[in-house]
Formats: sequence, structure tokens, C-alpha cells
Amino acid sequence: MKILISGSHGLVGTALIPMLELEGHDIFRLVRHAPNAETEIEWSPDRYSIALARLEGFDAVVHLAGESIAEGRWTDEKKKRIRESRVKGTRLLGDALANLTQPPHTFICASAIGYYGDRGDEVLTERSEPGKDFLADVCVEWEQATALASEKGIRVVNCRFGIILDAKGGALAKMLPPFRMGVGGKIGSGRQWMSWIALDDVIGGIKFALANGSIRGPVNFVAPAPVTNAVFTKTLGKVLSRPTIFPIPAFGVRLLFGEMADALLLSSQRVESAVLQTAGYLFRYATLEGALRHVLKD
Ligand SMILES: NC(=O)c1ccc[n+]([C@@H]2O[C@H](COP(=O)([O-])OP(=O)(O)OC[C@H]3O[C@@H](n4cnc5c(N)ncnc54)[C@H](OP(=O)(O)O)[C@@H]3O)[C@@H](O)[C@H]2O)c1
Repeated sequence: MKILISGSHGLVGTALIPMLELEGHDIFRLVRHAPNAETEIEWSPDRYSIALARLEGFDAVVHLAGESIAEGRWTDEKKKRIRESRVKGTRLLGDALANLTQPPHTFICASAIGYYGDRGDEVLTERSEPGKDFLADVCVEWEQATALASEKGIRVVNCRFGIILDAKGGALAKMLPPFRMGVGGKIGSGRQWMSWIALDDVIGGIKFALANGSIRGPVNFVAPAPVTNAVFTKTLGKVLSRPTIFPIPAFGVRLLFGEMADALLLSSQRVESAVLQTAGYLFRYATLEGALRHVLKD
């Protein structure tokens, strides 16, 4: 297939592209700078511009771009960038695809389990209602921005990614230094649910969704066994052979991270991957300990 990818230099894009190339797909990148190669196509979500003519004739588009949520304090300006890079960026790309003469058959678009907000012990599936906080609002608008593409007959898949586990990036990479030093511990009460997924299964799930024409709409990308923060902490300590006896109280993380603390670290989402599992996707890493041992093997 001829596949276009946005956000290609991020954690997911960097892992996805070589796997798709290995399978013989032709990969093009949507880039936010002047193109340096025939396989780069320019766009600017900020200026709401995209090289429309060059979008013709792709089989599929995988849209991963978005301002980082975990880097930097959530000032009003940062929150605006988090929202606009996703909502404006997705509308720009999705509407452009919808109006092509030769549109792609599939548009795979990132979203996040932040869609559900802070939900305690409730088990959440793709059918659950959205939450009511900032990230939930962003995710709702992010997914709605694919509506025109869907109306025009493109198969849209909104991947609600859980906490993606990889040693080189994302949440786990940030947690590793204190845990390796033996000063890790649970966050707040430790009762908040963490719905995680190994990076390999993100790639496997995207490839599965690309190939499986019956999958459309919201899809939870989370492993079958979410855990509480207390269990996550204990398991990470076990895999690293380090103690985890230094809890961080909720007020401490709020002091350190501001609003981001409640949204990302103290928020609870117990999410099931109902669509992927019903469609027959087999997770390579279904248990947290197995996933962490794999991800941290080097
Ligand atoms: N990692 C996770 O645990 C996780 C969890 C839930 C949801 N997600 C979502 O899944 C998507 C991919 O995740 P990821 O971990 O690969 O993200 P990432 O490492 O932060 O990469 C995102 C990419 O988006 C592009 N980008 C950055 N700032 C941008 C801006 N202001 N406007 C437009 N594009 C911008 C960059 O790519 P280019 O330089 O190539 O343009 C960047 O590499 C993201 O939308 C993320 O929010 C991730």
C-alpha cells in the first residue's frame, strides 16, 4: 500500500515506519518543514495549509501528529497548542482527504483514552460516554474532526491509545530514572487505574486495523489487563529489582506538575479493548510484567 504518515518522528511513527517498510509498503511523511525528499509532503496545521494535490492516490493515511501532552507545564498557551494541533490539524487533513478525487480507503487517526476522563473503577469500552475535563473535551473534538472524511466514505479508525510503554519515550521513560535509583513509589492513593499497551502492540494493532476493513470508529488501544497505579509501581519495581517505598502524595505531584498531574497521573481509566479483541487481534504483551520485561530487556 501507499501510506502517508503524520507525526512520523514521534514515538509511534518512529517504530511504525520501519515495520511497514519491512512489509513492502511505500511510506510518505507529512512534514512541517519544506520537503527534503520525494517522499515528504508539506503541511502546516498552524497556518492551516497542506499540499493538497500531493495527497491524491494514497491507499491509507495514519495521522499521529499532536503537540506533546507530557512535556512542559500546562499554561493556557500550551493547552491551546495541545487542542489546536489536534483539532485543527485533524480537520485540515481529514477535510482535505474527504475532498480528493482519489481519496484513501482508510484514515487511521490517533486519539487517547483521555476521552473517558477520570472514571474511578468503572470498566470503560468504546461505547462508554466521554468525560468532562480538558483532555476529554480535546479527544471528543479530535475525533469529531474526522467526521467529514467518514461521511465521504473513507473508513476512519480513531485509535484511543492508552499509556504506551517503551523504554525510549512516553510515560515509562519518564518514570524510569527515579525507579532505577530506588526512589520510585506509587502516586497519590495508588488506586487510579492505568490502562497501558506495549509499543509493539500499538504497531501490531495499527497494522491489524489497516488490513481489517471491518474495523471503523473508536478503538481502544489498551492491553487486556489494566492495573492500578499501586500494582504498576510494584511490578515495575520487581522487573527492575528495586524497592518502591517512596510514595508521592497527590499534593506533591500537583505542586510539581500543576494541572497535568490530575489529568495524567492521578486520573483513573480502566479501559477494555473490546473492538480489537472481538475482531480477533492477539496481543503480544497481555500482562504488565511480560510487557515490562520485554520493553526493558536491554
Ligand atoms: N505515547 C502515548 O502514551 C500516547 C497515549 C495516548 C495518545 N497518544 C497520542 O498518539 C499520537 C502519537 O503518539 P506519540 O507518542 O508518537 O507522540 P509524540 O512522540 O509526542 O509525537 C507526536 C508527533 O506530532 C508532531 N507534532 C509535535 N508537535 C506538534 C504540533 N504542535 N503540531 C503538529 N504536529 C506536532 C511531531 O511529528 P513531526 O515532527 O513528524 O511533525 C511529533 O513527533 C499523539 O497524538 C499522542 O497524543 C500517545
